[in-house]
Amino acid sequence: MSVCCTLGEMTKQGLNMISKNIQNAVLLLKQGELVAMPTETVYGLAADAQNPDALNKIFHAKGRPINHPLIVHIADISQLFEWATDVSPQAIQLAKHFWPGPLTLILKKAPQVSNIITGGQETIGIRIPKHPIARDLLIEFGSGVAAPSANRFGRISPTNAIAVKEELGDRIKMILDGGQCDVGVESTIVDVSGEHPRILRPGIITPQQIEAVLQQHLSSSEKNIPKVSGSLESHYAPETLTFLMNKEEIQIYLNKQEIHVVVVCRETSSLLLEKKSGVTYVVMPKDADKYAHDLYQTLRDLDKQHFKKIIVENVPETGEWWVVRDRLQRAASTLSIL
Ligand code: TXA
Ligand code: MG
Repeated sequence: MSVCCTLGEMTKQGLNMISKNIQNAVLLLKQGELVAMPTETVYGLAADAQNPDALNKIFHAKGRPINHPLIVHIADISQLFEWATDVSPQAIQLAKHFWPGPLTLILKKAPQVSNIITGGQETIGIRIPKHPIARDLLIEFGSGVAAPSANRFGRISPTNAIAVKEELGDRIKMILDGGQCDVGVESTIVDVSGEHPRILRPGIITPQQIEAVLQQHLSSSEKNIPKVSGSLESHYAPETLTFLMNKEEIQIYLNKQEIHVVVVCRETSSLLLEKKSGVTYVVMPKDADKYAHDLYQTLRDLDKQHFKKIIVENVPETGEWWVVRDRLQRAASTLSIL
C-alpha cells in the first residue's frame, strides 16, 4: 500500500471517528497516531510498536501507569523473532497451535525492543489476533503494533466500537469498526520465557487445552495466577459496586428489601421464580463461552443505569467457567453486605 495523503486529506475523504477504512488506520499508525482496532477478544488501542512517541500516547490516553507492559500484535509467526529471542520449542508449539487466536505468549525480549513496551522487564508479550480486520491491518502495516485493551485504566475492556468511543472517544483519532468481539474477554497469557510454562491470566483458552498441546501437566503453581502488575484485582470493574453471591445469599440479601439493585443470574437459575419487586433481573446465557461473550457489554450497560448495586450470581466451579469466574472475581467487591 502506498501512503499518499495527509490527515487533512483523509478527513476530506471521509475519515470518521468510527470507520471501516483499514488504509486510513494504517496511515494514522504510520504517522504515530493511536487507532482502536477490533480483535476477537476485546478492542485494542493500537500504536506503532517501533515509535516511542506513539507508545507514550497509549499510556497517556488510557491513564495507565508506565510500568504496565504492552502486548505486541503481529501478523505472522515469521515476525516473532523481530521481537523475541530464545524462543523455546514449547513456545513454538503453542504459537503454531493457537495462533492466530486468543493466546498471548510471554517471551524473552529481543535486545532492540523498547523499554516502553516491556515496562523495563526482560520479557515481551506477543500475540497474533484472529479477527480478520486486525489481521488485514497488521498485514498492511507490515510490523508490530502494541495494543492494550482500549479502555481507560482499570475499567472494563470494550467489546464493540461504541464502547471504545465511550471510553476513549475524545482521546483517539479513529476507531476501526469490526463489530462485536467473538470471544469478549482478554487473551489467555502464558509465560514461556522460563523453564516451566506458567499461566499469568485466564482466558477462553484453558489450562487443559494448553496441557494437551504441550503434552505436559502444569503444576498448580503454574496454573495459579500470580498477583503481579497487570493482574491487579481491581481490573475489569464497573463503577457500580458489584457483589458476587450464591443463590441463597442473594435471596437473603433481597429479603432485606433492598431496592434499585440488579441481579445478574444464569438462565438455569431458580431465582427467576422468586422475583422481587423493585429488583431488576438480567438473565445471562447458560453456556460459559456465550456468557463470556456477553459479560463486559452487560456490565457496561448496567453501569450506565446507576443501580445502587450489581449482584451477580456465582458461576459453576468447573473448568469451562474459568475465565468468567476470574473476571467476575475481579469485578466484584470483597466487602460483605450480608
Ligand atoms: O486480548 C488481549 O490480550 C487484548 C487484545 C487487545 O489483544 N489486550 C490486552 O492488553 O488485554 P492489556 O494491556 O489490557 O493487558 C495485557 C496484560 C497486562 O496485564 C500486562 O501486564 C500483561 O499483559 N503483560 C504484557 N506484557 C507482559 C510481560 N512482558 N510480562 C508479564 N505480563 C505482561
Ligand atoms: Mg486491559
